[in-house]
Amino acid sequence: MSLGRARRDFPALRRRRGKRPPTYLDSACISLVPRATLNAMEEYYAEYPACAGRSFHRWSETVGRRYEEAREAIARFAGASDPTGLIFLRNTTEAINLVGQGLAWRRGERVLITGQEHNSNLIVWQRLAAERGIRIEVLDLPGDGRFPSEELEERLAGGVRLVSVFHASNLDGRSLPIREIVQRAHDRGALCLFDGAQSAPHRAIDFDRVGADFYAFSGHKMLGPTGTGLLLGRRERLEELRPLVVGGETVAWSRLDAHELRPPPYRFEAGLQNYAGVLGARAGIDYLVGCGLAEVEARQRDLNRFVTRALADEPRIHVLGPTDPADRPSIFGFTVDGIDPHDVALFLDSGYQVLVRSGMHCVHSWYDRRGIAGSVRASFYLYNDLYDARALVRGLHELLRRVPSGSSAKVRSPIRSRTDPS
Ligand SMILES: Cc1ncc(COP(=O)(O)O)c(C=O)c1O
Repeated sequence: MSLGRARRDFPALRRRRGKRPPTYLDSACISLVPRATLNAMEEYYAEYPACAGRSFHRWSETVGRRYEEAREAIARFAGASDPTGLIFLRNTTEAINLVGQGLAWRRGERVLITGQEHNSNLIVWQRLAAERGIRIEVLDLPGDGRFPSEELEERLAGGVRLVSVFHASNLDGRSLPIREIVQRAHDRGALCLFDGAQSAPHRAIDFDRVGADFYAFSGHKMLGPTGTGLLLGRRERLEELRPLVVGGETVAWSRLDAHELRPPPYRFEAGLQNYAGVLGARAGIDYLVGCGLAEVEARQRDLNRFVTRALADEPRIHVLGPTDPADRPSIFGFTVDGIDPHDVALFLDSGYQVLVRSGMHCVHSWYDRRGIAGSVRASFYLYNDLYDARALVRGLHELLRRVPSGSSAKVRSPIRSRTDPS
C-alpha cells in the first residue's frame, strides 16, 4: 500500500465542507484509526456480538476463533513464535503493572529503570518500594542520545532482579539498544521488561530474536481502538507471575474452598474481554503491516528532518534528545525560550490548526530534576505529510515573530494553572 494514499483511509482526516482537517501531530499519545479498524469492530457487534469461550452457540464460537486468530496474528507481527505468550490487557500501563506486581519480590531486590521513564514505568516501582521493600536503581541517560553501556554494566554488577526500561522514549523519541540490554542483563541473571509503547508502532519488535522476558505495548498507539494493551512474555516467565485480577475465565475449575488457575495467557484475562477492541487492534496492525514498517519509519524521519532543518536557525527553539532526527524519527520534542509550552500548543491549535502535546508528557520526574516547566511534542505517524510539517514550521516561525525575545507578552490566555495531565 502506498503511504501517499493512506490519509484517505482515516475517517478523522476527511475533509469537512471542503476544508482540510486539523494537522494531527499527537500520535505518540493516541493514533488515529483507519476504516479497517472501525470495520472490524462493527463486524463484531453486527455479526457475532457474543462472548468467547463461555457458550457453545455459533456466535460464541466465531468470536472465540477470531479472538485467538488475533492473538496469533499480533504475536506473529511481534516476532513471537508462541502466541500463548501474548496477553490482552487494557494498555501498556496495565501490562507493566502485571509484571511488576505479579513477580514475587523479596525485600532489597532491585529494579533498574532509566531517569527518563513514563509514569507507567515508575509509579508501580515506587509502590513496590514502599509496600514490598524493593529498591529502585536509576540509570541516567546523557542528553545527546548516547547509551551509557558501562554504567549499565556497573549497575547490573551490583545485583539487579529486573531491568525495566523504555524501548523508545515518548519525551524525545530516542531508542535504547534493547539487544545489548538483554544480553548484559541476562549475563548477570537479571530479567528484562521493555516499555514498547512508543516503539511497537514504528519498528519490528522481534521478540524472539531480541530475547526479552517481557515486552509491553498498546494497540491505541498503533492504529487500534482505545483500551487495547498487550503484554508479551516468555512462557516460563509468565507462569511465575501472580495475576493482577482473578475470577471468571481465569480458572480451570473451582470449588467453594479452592480453584486451579488456567495456564497463561488465560489466567491473566479475567472476566469478559474487549473483543471488539482486540479485533480492531488486529485490523489496525494488519493495516500497519500492509503499509510496511520501514516505509512508515522513513516517512516520519523525512518529516522530522524537514522540521528540524527548517527550525535550525531559530536559536530560541531547543530540540530535546539526539540532534539527528534519524535517531528520534517519530518525535520532535522542544522548548521555546520565554514561552510556556502550553501557550505554544494553544497558539498552534488556534492559529494554525496544528495539534501538538505540551506539558510533562507523564515524565514529570525528568522535568522535575532539571527544573523545566515542560516541553512541546510534535509526533508524526504514517498519515502525516509535508503539508503537516510545513504547518508546524509556519506556526512556530509566526509565534517567534509575534513574541520577540525577552518580551513578556502573552500569546493567548495561559493555562499554566491547569494541572499537568498524567
Ligand atoms: C513510553 C510510554 N510508556 C507508557 C505509556 C502508557 O501507555 P498507555 O496509556 O497505553 O498505558 C505511554 C503513553 O503515552 C508511553 O508513551
